[in-house]
Amino acid sequence: MRRLGAIIVSAMLPVAASVAFADELVKFAVVDDNEIRESLTGKPGNPEEGRKAAANRGLGNCLACHVMPIKEDLQGDVGPDLKGVASRLKESELRLRLVNPKLLNPQTAMPAFYRTDGLNRVRKDMEGKPILTAAQIEDIVAYLLTLKE
Ligand code: HEC
Repeated sequence: MRRLGAIIVSAMLPVAASVAFADELVKFAVVDDNEIRESLTGKPGNPEEGRKAAANRGLGNCLACHVMPIKEDLQGDVGPDLKGVASRLKESELRLRLVNPKLLNPQTAMPAFYRTDGLNRVRKDMEGKPILTAAQIEDIVAYLLTLKE
């Protein structure tokens, strides 16, 4: 049922509106407290762009906490190694973990990358904006899906 809501919302969202309200979050539905099934942009992301955004210290900065199969010296181990993550989690589960991992574990160290409320110590120029855009989330989801064991 909740999934139906998401389909209706995304079907009604005209392209012009998403441009005009670029700072607003795209509506999405969480299913079974574990998945976001619909792409936030309505289309698949670009895995090559996703790899860059994940490695970029000013964007995803995933390497601060995760080992990924990317050439980079400094890789953190606060979170699990993401090699083979696509063999453990499916697309909809990866999307939820990027959008807001606090839904699964309120104590997690991992930032909610697509959320504007409940954030602490937000930089002035980032107020009201998620850390990543909907397109960057989809690109990173597409990249993570290539990490199969
Ligand atoms: C500040 C540290 C931190 C950052 C930055 C971070 N994560 Fe995480 N991540 C974690 C932790 C810790 C977990 C373990 C889950 C938990 O804490 O509940 C996790 C879990 C995950 C999982 C689930 C893995 C599994 O095997 O269950 C994925 C996927 C993931 N992170 C992807 C990313 C991506 C992609 C980025 C960058 C966009 C990122 N994370 C940035 C700390 C981080």
